[in-house]
Amino acid sequence: MPATQSVNDLIEQLKWRYACKKFDPTKKIPAEIWSQLEQALVLAPSSYGLQPWKFFVVMDPKLKEQLPAFSWNQPQPKDCSHFVVLAIKKEFGPADVDRLVNRIVEVTGAPKESLEGYRGMMLGSVSRMSDKDKEIWNRSQLYIALGQFMAAAATIGVDTCPMEGFIAEKYDELLGLDKKGYHAVVCCAAGYRAADDAYAARPKVRYATQEVIEHL
Ligand SMILES: Cc1cc2nc3c(=O)[nH]c(=O)nc-3n(C[C@H](O)[C@H](O)[C@H](O)COP(=O)(O)O)c2cc1C
Repeated sequence: MPATQSVNDLIEQLKWRYACKKFDPTKKIPAEIWSQLEQALVLAPSSYGLQPWKFFVVMDPKLKEQLPAFSWNQPQPKDCSHFVVLAIKKEFGPADVDRLVNRIVEVTGAPKESLEGYRGMMLGSVSRMSDKDKEIWNRSQLYIALGQFMAAAATIGVDTCPMEGFIAEKYDELLGLDKKGYHAVVCCAAGYRAADDAYAARPKVRYATQEVIEHL
């Protein structure tokens, strides 16, 4: 597929992106743009393709207003347009492997028997892990979705703020995630920056390219 934009444009947009501290609460992401951004989450890759996640999108103002109290009083959850809570499945095991196998059959039409090898490999990996290791593995998948979402948003001029500064157990309770079998890991506020957010003009503080990239 031909590139839809030049790499220079992409890098410019990534430089434009910053962790927005102050959203303009009057600006909402249009529904047609938001539905595309949701696809950036849906399309995120994951180990084996297992997608051990669910993305909860908080749009209800009454819920959003309650979030800063459990987010070290950060205002982004309240003032942004859409607030995404990236959550892992609390229980993860053989049933999740079978769920994926069934989905592969459904989407690709492959005979289920042809997937036995792949299924066995996944079951082997999952069964060898302790619950803690599985949690760490699944948590790390969420950060892939987070990165893809932020990059996608930046390319279409939507601001974001990734957030780990929140009390996950409180979010789980307030948003009803725990009852659904999920646990909040990381969040991302999305919307449009306030004109007076001083952070937008701050220089990017990054280590020199030669320090973080090494050619071998
Ligand atoms: C996983 C993660 C969690 C973060 N949590 C918060 C947060 O709770 N609140 C906040 O204001 N910024 C948060 N940040 C933003 C970082 O501080 C910011 O990305 C970093 O300082 C680099 O600045 P830049 O994103 O503006 O380039 C988080 C970033 C990441 C990747």
